[in-house]
Amino acid sequence: MGNLLQGKKGLIFGALNEQSIAWKVAERAVAEGAEIVLTNTPASLRFGTINELAAKCNSIVIPADATKVEDLELLIDKTMEHFGGKFDFILHSIGMSPNLRKGLSYDDLNYEYLNKTLDISAISFHKIIKAAYSKDALNEWGSIVALTYLAAQRTVCGYDDMADAKALLESIARSFGYIYGQKCKVRINTVSQSPTLTTAGSGVAGLGNLLEYAEAMAPLGNATAEDCADYVLTLFSDYTRKVTMQNLFHDGGFASMSMSHAAMSIVEKGLKE
Ligand SMILES: NC(=O)c1ccc[n+]([C@@H]2O[C@H](COP(=O)([O-])OP(=O)(O)OC[C@H]3O[C@@H](n4cnc5c(N)ncnc54)[C@H](O)[C@@H]3O)[C@@H](O)[C@H]2O)c1
Repeated sequence: MGNLLQGKKGLIFGALNEQSIAWKVAERAVAEGAEIVLTNTPASLRFGTINELAAKCNSIVIPADATKVEDLELLIDKTMEHFGGKFDFILHSIGMSPNLRKGLSYDDLNYEYLNKTLDISAISFHKIIKAAYSKDALNEWGSIVALTYLAAQRTVCGYDDMADAKALLESIARSFGYIYGQKCKVRINTVSQSPTLTTAGSGVAGLGNLLEYAEAMAPLGNATAEDCADYVLTLFSDYTRKVTMQNLFHDGGFASMSMSHAAMSIVEKGLKE
């Protein structure tokens, strides 16, 4: 327990259950003194356990589908009403690909589904930022963070159209980061997290192997959801006021690696079998 975010208020998207990265961010933000509002889709409120988190965090839950502009506008209004004015941070922790869910490979994408993947996982970020920007909802030196994955830069087989969504998400952080930064001194960054065992993570084929491989490759090992939460808190804090429009790797060093002794041993073992 500390006071890194003492006096700060924020809106957190994407806590579905205890495994969710957003769940860990919410818990840690409150432990560091923040007040939060939680949001997720009406369906996820029914299937998930967000109300338990809300009770722990002394927070309210406002349902919103992040692809619907009218939901987001209402959400920002209600959040401002709850906080009695502007607030300081937003976490976008949202991802879903109907193509991945239905097991359709990248060379056999359903284009309706692709539109949904992009809308839910990337364009929702633009919609959320725009709703906050047009309502002047964030204080100066406010901070917006979205979670992303290395497949935006390098091909990860099985990540399919989510890779395209992440590339767009990271681009939105730069494009809106310029506008929001210049006008209101609000920063926008993406955090590129290690593979993590969550509901969304489990949608990626072979996640178990990916976790093992990444663990063997990263000099510091995989970053857990808890580690991710700690990193995100620094981006909400006043210690990172001049960091904006960046994609920040939070992966134990994986993104800079090509081969490690540990990963080589796995390959050698496999070759001998
Ligand atoms: N798990 C991983 O391996 C990993 C790695 C890197 C980045 N990420 C990213 O982290 C973020 C959070 O995912 P997670 O791993 O915690 O999984 P998760 O399944 O717990 O979270 C995904 C969330 O997206 C929400 N969501 C889906 N459609 C929505 C919509 N229309 N409107 C609002 N919310 C919607 C879901 O309800 C859920 O809460 C995602 O952006 C994901 O791509 C995950």
